Amino acid sequence: MGEQDPRTELDLENPPHGEAEDIEACVRLIQEIMRLGPRPMMRGQHAKSTGDVKARLIVDPARPAETRFGIFESDRTYDAIVRFSNGAGSMSPDTRADARGMAIKVLGVSGPRAFEEAGDTDTQDFVMINFPQFPVRNAHEYRKFMESRLKYIGLLGQAGNAIGQLLFFVPFRLGQFLRVGRKLIGTSRSPLVERYWSMSPYRLGPRAIKFSLVPHPVNSEALPANPSKDVHSADQLSRVLADHLRAEEARFDFVVQFRNDPKSMPIEDPTVLWDESISKPVKVATLIIDQADLNSPESIAFRKEVEAMSFNPWHALEAHRPLGGINRLRKRVYQESTKLRRESS
Ligand code: HEM
Repeated sequence: MGEQDPRTELDLENPPHGEAEDIEACVRLIQEIMRLGPRPMMRGQHAKSTGDVKARLIVDPARPAETRFGIFESDRTYDAIVRFSNGAGSMSPDTRADARGMAIKVLGVSGPRAFEEAGDTDTQDFVMINFPQFPVRNAHEYRKFMESRLKYIGLLGQAGNAIGQLLFFVPFRLGQFLRVGRKLIGTSRSPLVERYWSMSPYRLGPRAIKFSLVPHPVNSEALPANPSKDVHSADQLSRVLADHLRAEEARFDFVVQFRNDPKSMPIEDPTVLWDESISKPVKVATLIIDQADLNSPESIAFRKEVEAMSFNPWHALEAHRPLGGINRLRKRVYQESTKLRRESS
C-alpha cells in the first residue's frame, strides 16, 4: 500500500504471449455461436433487455480531488441511457439463474478518446455485472471456454451452451468455478436492487480503479416485503422495473475503488477480488433513473432504439481507458458482435 507511481501503475498491463491470436479465435467463436442462434441475430451475450431507460448522472460536488478526471473532472450533470440485461446470449426467462447486466451510456462527453472508431464519439459507456469478479482469467482461458460452449451447442443444440460452460470449469478449474463461476449466477428480484461491478480495471486519470453502482434503499420500495409474493413470470424483471418507475425515480451511487495494493489487486486477472477493506470505494456521482411509464408508445420506441445501440467499455475517454487482458479481448469482440447483429437485421 502507499503512494503510487502513476507510470508504474498503468505500465502493469502485461499482454501474455499469443494473446492477439487468442483474441481473434474468440471473435470467430462468438460469431459462430451467434450464427447458430435465432434470427434476428441478438447480442452475443446479454441478449435479453430487462429495461431500457433514461437517466441523469450527477457528478458529486464532494468527490475527492484524486477522482477528478475524465467525466468526473468538473461538477456537471450528464444525460445518460441505461440498459439492464440478463447475461445469457438468448431470450431466456427472467426466472432462470443468470448473471445480470447494467450498461450505462453517458451522453455529451468530450475529450481525448481511448479508441477512435466511427459512431459513439461523444459517449462514455460503463458496462457491469452484478458480481465483483469475472469467472475467466484471460483471453486464452476465454478461448477454451468458448470452444467448450460451441462443442456442446454442436452436440445438443442451444441446451448445450450451459453444459459447455459448466464443463469448461469442471474438473480442471473447479476452484475457480466454486469461487467465482457458481456465485455469479443467481435469481434476482429486480434490476434496481442489484449492485453492479466493473469486474475488470480501468484508468481514472493516472490511477487504476474498479467501479460499481450501489442501489439506494428507495429502489426496493415497490417490491413486496415478502419475496414469496413476487411475481414469477418470464418477464418479471421488466415488470418490476416498470412498476417502480411508474411511481417514482430510482437512484444508484457511482463509486470507484482505487488500486492501492499492487500485490493483491492485479490488473491482468479479473477472477481476483479487490478487497474493499484494503481499498474502500469512494462516491463520485449519483445516477438517477427518471420516473417513466415504460409501457407508453414513447418508451416502447425508445426501447427499440436502445436495443440497436452498442454499449462497449471502449466507448471511453482516454482518462477512463479499459485495462487488462479481458478488456483487450472485449475491444474486438463487442465491435464484431455489434457489426454482425446489425448486418443481419
Ligand atoms: C469484465 C467482464 C465483463 C463484463 C462486466 C461484461 C458485461 C456485459 C454487459 C452488461 C453486456 C450488455 C451490454 C448491453 O446492454 O448492450 C455485455 C455484452 C456483451 N459481452 Fe460482456 N462482459 C464482460 C466480459 C466479456 C467477455 C470476456 C466477452 C467475450 C469475449 C464478452 C462478450 C460480450 C458480447 C459479445 C456482448 C454483446 C455486444 C453487443 O453486441 O453489443 N463480455 N457484456
